[in-house]
Amino acid sequence: MNNKKIWAGRFTKETDKRVNDFNSSISFDARMYREDIEGSIAHATMLGECNIIDLEESKAIVEGLKGILADIESGKLEFDFNAEDIHSFIETELTKRLDDTGKRLHTARSRNDQVALDIRMYLKKEVKEIESLIKKLITVLTDLSEKNLQTVMAGYTHLQRAQPITFAHHIMAYSQMFLRDLERLKDAYKRINIMPLGSGALASTTYPINRRMVCDALGFDEITQNSLDAVSDRDFCIELASDLSILMMHLSRFSEEIILWDSWEFKFIELDDAYSTGSSIMPQKKNPDITELIRGKTGRVYGDLNTLLIMMKGLPLAYNKDMQEDKEAIFDAIDTVKLSLNAFIPMIETMTIFPENMREAAAKGFINATDCADYLVKKGMPFRDAYKITGEIIRLCIENNLTLETLPIEKYKEFSNKFEEDIFEAINLETCVMQRKVEGGPAPESVKAQIEYIRNKIN
Ligand code: ARG
Repeated sequence: MNNKKIWAGRFTKETDKRVNDFNSSISFDARMYREDIEGSIAHATMLGECNIIDLEESKAIVEGLKGILADIESGKLEFDFNAEDIHSFIETELTKRLDDTGKRLHTARSRNDQVALDIRMYLKKEVKEIESLIKKLITVLTDLSEKNLQTVMAGYTHLQRAQPITFAHHIMAYSQMFLRDLERLKDAYKRINIMPLGSGALASTTYPINRRMVCDALGFDEITQNSLDAVSDRDFCIELASDLSILMMHLSRFSEEIILWDSWEFKFIELDDAYSTGSSIMPQKKNPDITELIRGKTGRVYGDLNTLLIMMKGLPLAYNKDMQEDKEAIFDAIDTVKLSLNAFIPMIETMTIFPENMREAAAKGFINATDCADYLVKKGMPFRDAYKITGEIIRLCIENNLTLETLPIEKYKEFSNKFEEDIFEAINLETCVMQRKVEGGPAPESVKAQIEYIRNKIN
């Protein structure tokens, strides 16, 4: 194995093995081999077109790079984990194959602009993949909601039963959060999709390169406007890690609710056997491990965001080796999000819903108390008085083990002569939901409109 560095000329000694291992990034940047090769193909083509290198040599480089790509993908060429990074590995391999011609590839380029290009290309691909996973999740959630427009359940505040909603309304709340996650990613994509090559090590180059040609060949929107900025900044990684952290936070809250709903205390849902796990000692156990892992892994993605923020905060311009640490952090955040979504989506798709249990729980918490007060308000009583009377009625119910539905009308009348038989219709949970038909409310027609809105947004 040839362990000569691409920069060996100035040195009289070989790199210490421990330094080499410490310094090397190929163990984690090898995953960008495709982007590195595609970027180099665009660069070499441009060098030829601009007469910076001979056109024939440029073509030979492009063919050589294509050969390396094919050999990596077929398994014929293995990564050399003693190499410094994926960039030097591929350049060294090209030179092995093409000799002097291979050595011309790096004309008018530095690994500093090369790595900035590779990361941007890699992230573009990954962001698109995450976007389609989020769309899939939203589709599953809207389909689930459509089937549960009439499924009455209690909405909670402080984890105490509060007011009547439907299961569809609850699920659609998460759809809205995931829609914003999707929009955030689309926005981050715009700032990732800028082409840095041509910035050189920091001060661009004296060669008459054509950056726009490379930009178009690689499908970028624009080129970076300042060579120092282009090789120094990783704010696009930080922005993405931040968007992924918010997405994980939403997944984690949803997971927490699924854990609660799947418990015997709630039993609003049950996860499919294929998406649950057992216990080594308790034969009866069926645990919602996926959701707990997502909750746990959320911390990990926050950690990745922190790593990036802290890594960058004290760096003078331009490139510093600290920045090599960007990749493990952002790759880990991406991998974790994809793993989580890939487990979460089918888990939601296959879970069983128990509407009777939701309805039964909703019947117990006096969640129609607001509607009882509103009934009196509609009959002319000021809200604060209606609120007080309803509170007293509820106290009586609790003392006598009754509900607003089972309290006799005579008892109601003792509190106010405004009460008539139609109070029972007003506090019926189904009526209470139907009445909340304002835009954004839980009434089936309002939720249907929400579903429509989201479907239009993601298609
Ligand atoms: N492996 C390096 C990284 O990931 C590539 C850039 C190296 N540049 C340099 N001047 N040492 O950041």
